[in-house]
Amino acid sequence: MTDIAGEIDLFSFDPFSHHEFYLEVNRSLVERAIAGLPAGGHRTVVDLGCGTGAITELVVSALRARQLDATVVAVEPSPAALAEARRRLSDAGMPVRWLQGDAGELRSLGHDVDALFFCNAIHLIHDKAETVRMIAEAMAPGGVVAINSTFFSGCYVADTERFYRMWTIGAMRWLRREHPEVPVSRDRAEAMRWLSGAEYAAMLGEHGLDVEYCEHEQAEMTLESFQDIGRYRLFIEGALPGVPIPLGAQALYRGAADAFAQLNLTRVPRNWLQIIARRRPGSGTTWSSSGCRDATAPALDERR
Ligand SMILES: C[S@@+](CC[C@H](N)C(=O)[O-])C[C@H]1O[C@@H](n2cnc3c(N)ncnc32)[C@H](O)[C@@H]1O
Repeated sequence: MTDIAGEIDLFSFDPFSHHEFYLEVNRSLVERAIAGLPAGGHRTVVDLGCGTGAITELVVSALRARQLDATVVAVEPSPAALAEARRRLSDAGMPVRWLQGDAGELRSLGHDVDALFFCNAIHLIHDKAETVRMIAEAMAPGGVVAINSTFFSGCYVADTERFYRMWTIGAMRWLRREHPEVPVSRDRAEAMRWLSGAEYAAMLGEHGLDVEYCEHEQAEMTLESFQDIGRYRLFIEGALPGVPIPLGAQALYRGAADAFAQLNLTRVPRNWLQIIARRRPGSGTTWSSSGCRDATAPALDERR
């Protein structure tokens, strides 16, 4: 890990996480999941992979809007991101417990978590099933798990693949021209190996998490948002494996500008996969019928 708590990370996720469409699509998931919590009592709510706190902020505000009494626990492996999240939430009006680590940290919370958010991160995990197992183990019976990602099989809206091809080609062309000494690998990193909604739903079901909601929600992405995601270190590692982060950031910045100009675009629509599941009472691990059928299947609630 190259980042240090307290220092400003130039290649942070934070700028991307302030875009209005990003807040909207995540707010939609957060509010739906928090609405699924029963009123009364004290709740434990976890934001796993909290990054720089965008989701934590939405969770706190949804809990406050429902006047639910809760302890919010935010878990994140990157010390620099965690430090930024603490700053972002300093005036949130609800205490947040901050833990550095990954899903393994959930063991310290026992089996009593009432709601858990794992947003915009699962595509980064190598052993997704093991992470889902640890999440399921931490949940109280009936507890709500909300997971989303825009790196899944089905994320591209029809007719937008051309933009992504041009973006990648433009970034590589810039690198070859300006930095011919940098080898550009063709290997796809883990961030680029995408599962479908159906595969995620099946994986959750196998671990006793019954999917209640599985939707594609569309967001309208601007050039600035592609340039902001293009200077996030984990995105660069996935898109341009092996390329030094500062050069990858520049290449993706130029590539996005060129693709928008050449295709005369103002926005590129993109799907977010939004999943809400509930911990099955008892420790059953069977999974039968419900869930996303495939990446383009209608949402569960549309099929009822
Ligand atoms: C794209 S950011 C998303 C941050 C925040 N959840 C959001 O939706 O705005 C992905 C975050 O997942 C974290 N992450 C990566 N691997 C992880 C793991 N194994 N367990 C938990 N978090 C992880 C990264 O450090 C990063 O902060």
